[in-house]
Amino acid sequence: MALHIEKIAKSKISDIDFENLTFGQIFTDHMYECDFEDGKWLEPTIRPYQPLQFDPSAKVFHYGQAVFEGMKAYKDESDDLWLFRPDQNQKRLNISAERLDMPAFPEDLFFEGLNTLLKMDNEWVKKGKDNALYIRPFIIATENCVSASTSNKFKFMIICSPVQSYYSGEVKVVFADKYSRSADGGVGFAKAAGNYAGSFYPTKLANNEGFQQVVWTDSSTHEFLEEAGVMNVFFRVNDTLLTAPVSDRILDGVTRKSIIQFAEDKGIKVEVRPVRVTEIVEAARKGELLEMFGAGTAAVISVINGFSNKGESFELPKIENDYASIIKKGITDIQKNLAEDKFGWTVKVQ
Ligand SMILES: Cc1ncc(COP(=O)(O)O)c(C=O)c1O
Repeated sequence: MALHIEKIAKSKISDIDFENLTFGQIFTDHMYECDFEDGKWLEPTIRPYQPLQFDPSAKVFHYGQAVFEGMKAYKDESDDLWLFRPDQNQKRLNISAERLDMPAFPEDLFFEGLNTLLKMDNEWVKKGKDNALYIRPFIIATENCVSASTSNKFKFMIICSPVQSYYSGEVKVVFADKYSRSADGGVGFAKAAGNYAGSFYPTKLANNEGFQQVVWTDSSTHEFLEEAGVMNVFFRVNDTLLTAPVSDRILDGVTRKSIIQFAEDKGIKVEVRPVRVTEIVEAARKGELLEMFGAGTAAVISVINGFSNKGESFELPKIENDYASIIKKGITDIQKNLAEDKFGWTVKVQ
């Protein structure tokens, strides 16, 4: 299938202040688009980034039949562009799509579209350790009909946004004991748009109480710690890293699995098992809870400085040689081609 390309007449790049980017607000010159109709994906297009037109009855607006991905490209000192484990995002998009009854987007089209788009918008990826290009592939239901049933038309797109390294300042979290982001048999493992919509209100309540994020717990008992906001979560108790196993309720994060592999390779003991609220509270009381951090594409690792459980607050100690810094540096150096990639994670865009 031929990829149609329509180039922008004049790039917007000279208008962008790359030193002052707010995450996810600026988009590159081009976007990739492919429609699904009559049971098949049609010819894809790359064209100038622009608003889309939809009928108000398009199903995505009413039933949230929408899935997405989040990945990054990095530029090294030799101007080569690199992706980090893009196969994982491509596969996960289709895992999410299946759960939302959407058609899989073919792997060959995905990579042809992504590579072509990245080469066309190459100038938008800046060198240097603080810079990257955030890539957002997504699929939405576009059939014009408000009946509550699956759509027969879809649109797959890729849009890209230049970003700087993510620094959130002090992060205090609250363990969820009322709301849930996902449930057994639900769509928590999918990057389904509605999961995020459903998390905004409880997160706002947490923000109002002075917490930056909610650590989600299992929906039936609220006794097990599962994810931190839109990140997977790790706890360091003494010298062991703990993280929950993936399940129906937990996103199978690319950063999470990379951290587990990297840490084990460094000789750090990692336990992937259900993590009880009570054991973390106990460990904090005894001074054995040394670190807590979120793991995701946006920040790689986002350190959590304190938490609250049922109204009781705990501070984490400031320690030397923390795992978070060692792992974050190790993984970001691989992502940016500053260190040998012995895991075979990085893929050059060519
Ligand atoms: C709910 C949720 N958990 C975890 C993650 C981390 O996944 P990844 O490391 O693949 O970015 C994300 C996405 O970034 C997410 O949305």
